[in-house]
Amino acid sequence: MDTSDKTITCRAAIAWAANSTLSIEEVQVEPPKAGEVRIKLASTGICGTDDHAIKGLLSAIFPFIPGHEGAGIVESIGKGVTSVKPGDKVLTLIIPQCRECSSCLHPKGNFCEKQDVLPSSGLMLDGTSRFTCKGKKIYHSFRTSTFTEYTVVPEIAVAKIDDAAPMDKVSLISCEVPTGYGAAVHSAKVTHGSTCVVFGLGGIGSAIVMGCKASGASRIIGVDINEEKFPRARALGVTDCLNPQKFKKPVQQVVMEMTGVGADFAFEAIGLSDTMLAAWDSCHRSYGVCLIVGVAPLNSKLSLDAPMIVSGRTMKGVCLGDYKTRDCIHHLVTDYLQNKINIDPLVTHQLPFDQLHKAFELYHAGKTIRCILLF
Ligand SMILES: NC(=O)c1ccc[n+]([C@@H]2O[C@H](COP(=O)([O-])OP(=O)(O)OC[C@H]3O[C@@H](n4cnc5c(N)ncnc54)[C@H](O)[C@@H]3O)[C@@H](O)[C@H]2O)c1
Ligand SMILES: [Zn+2]
Ligand SMILES: [Zn+2]
Repeated sequence: MDTSDKTITCRAAIAWAANSTLSIEEVQVEPPKAGEVRIKLASTGICGTDDHAIKGLLSAIFPFIPGHEGAGIVESIGKGVTSVKPGDKVLTLIIPQCRECSSCLHPKGNFCEKQDVLPSSGLMLDGTSRFTCKGKKIYHSFRTSTFTEYTVVPEIAVAKIDDAAPMDKVSLISCEVPTGYGAAVHSAKVTHGSTCVVFGLGGIGSAIVMGCKASGASRIIGVDINEEKFPRARALGVTDCLNPQKFKKPVQQVVMEMTGVGADFAFEAIGLSDTMLAAWDSCHRSYGVCLIVGVAPLNSKLSLDAPMIVSGRTMKGVCLGDYKTRDCIHHLVTDYLQNKINIDPLVTHQLPFDQLHKAFELYHAGKTIRCILLF
C-alpha cells in the first residue's frame, strides 16, 4: 500500500515526563514536509545520550519520542529532497550537516548549527515534530526520534548508506561507532605505541577502545565503576582495568603512578564533570590530549586548576568523531562491509522493539555494551 502523503499510525515509545518509564503508544506520524524525509526504522540502539534525555538532564521537551541511533529505509520524501529517495537505506544523524552554516563551511567543523543537542539552537521549539498521540503534540528528540516504527527527519540529518548494509546492526554506525572509534582514530589521531586511558567502558567507551587498539596504542587503561564491563573491555584491547571505587586515592593519581608521566590520550565517555576532570588530570602535563566525549548535564560546570593549564595539555570536545556527518559516516558502513572495522563485538543484545523495557532494564543493570531494538 502506498503510504506517501498519508498520516501513518504506528507504535512508538513516549517519555511523558522526566524520569518516567517509557510507554509504548499508538502515534500518528504526518507525511514529511519540504526538506524532510519519513523513515521506516529497522533498528535503533540505546545510547547513553537517550538515557540522559529521558532523565531530563538535557534539553528535550516532554513529552517526546527518544532515540537518535537509527537505521531504516526511506518511506517517502518531502518537496525539494534530492539526496535520498524512497527505498534507500539510511542512518539518522544526531548532528546534521546543512553545508551552509559556519561549522559546516569550516574544514574542521562538524557541530552543525542546525543541531538540536544544545538548548542554544532553540530548534526544539520550532514545531518540527510530526508526531501526535491521543490528539496531543509529541516532541522529537534531537530532531531524530528513533524509538518509533516511523519517524520524520530533516534531509540534512539523513545519511544514505550502502544497499548491502545489514540493517539489524548498522544503527550503531549512526552514533556509537563514529563517536567512539572516530574520537580515537579521527579526532585524537591516537599514535602508534601510545598510552591511552578511557573513562567509561559502556557503548561509547568500548568503541573508543576499539579505535585506540586499531591505531596501535600499546597500553589502554579502562576506567569504570562496573567491573562487569571489564572482561569485554579486555577482549576489545584494554590492557589495565581500574575501578575508581577500589582506591583510596583519586583514580587520576593511580593513572599517573602506573604510567609515570601520564597518558598521551585520555577520553571521557561518561558525561560527568568529575570524570572529565579526572581524564584531564590523567594526561601528560605537556603533550597529553584529553577528549571530552561524554555529554554533561545541562548547567553543570567544569572547574580546572588554572595555573596548570599553561603546561601544554590540550582539552578538546568531540561530537561524532569530528566527522562531517553526511559526507563521512556512510564510509564507516562501507568499511564495515569490507571488513576494515568490526562492529560486531559492540552488539551485545538485540531485542524486538516491544521488549523496550527489558532492554532498558539490561542497560540500567550495566549488562550491555549496546542493545539494539529491532522493528
Ligand atoms: N560526543 C558525542 O558525540 C556523544 C555521542 C554519543 C554519546 N555521548 C555521550 O557519551 C557518554 C557515554 O555514552 P554510552 O552510550 O557509552 O553510555 P553507557 O551508559 O553505555 O556507558 C557509560 C559507562 O560509564 C560508567 N560509569 C558511570 N559513572 C561512572 C563513574 N563515576 N566512573 C567511572 N565509570 C562510570 C558506566 O558503568 C558505563 O559503563 C554519555 O554521556 C553520552 O551522552 C556523546
Ligand atoms: Zn548517541
Ligand atoms: Zn551546518
